[in-house]
Amino acid sequence: MKKILFVCLGNICRSPSAEGVMAHLVEKEALGQKIKLDSAGIIGFHAGEQADPRSREHAEKRGVELTSIARQFNPSGDFQQFDYILAMDKRNFRDLTNLDKNKKFAHKIFMMTDFCRDMKVSDVPDPYYAGANGFELVLDILEDACTGLLDKIKEEL
Ligand code: 4NP
Repeated sequence: MKKILFVCLGNICRSPSAEGVMAHLVEKEALGQKIKLDSAGIIGFHAGEQADPRSREHAEKRGVELTSIARQFNPSGDFQQFDYILAMDKRNFRDLTNLDKNKKFAHKIFMMTDFCRDMKVSDVPDPYYAGANGFELVLDILEDACTGLLDKIKEEL
């Protein structure tokens, strides 16, 4: 069993999209019993909310349903509980690294874009103020990165 947590700033756009795209791939490969997914935000401002309607609408067009409810990252449980913690951008990565006070969990924190194979990008850019193209770009990056991530995790199951 591998447990994967996707993290962005608000947990309403990028990380719920990552969770949904990955869930779609995991379901296609019938690996739902072996791979558990969740997402969280660095900030708790949107806790309790569904994913942004724009994220849900763009994902839906690709056959991906976003069902998660936003929550804040919990340093006292999440570092322990998850095997992979994926940061959507460099700021999320730095925030996660700073929350890992005793530097015990650095080996679990990754950049989501490290798993991309086709897209040449170093961040999943925040689409909040970016318009429709921004939401499409997020999904393009996440489909590429999730495919790479799933292949890596399959080697470890
Ligand atoms: P996300 O986008 O990190 O991809 O969920 C954001 C959504 C809301 C805010 C920041 C980022 N916000 O500050 O409200």
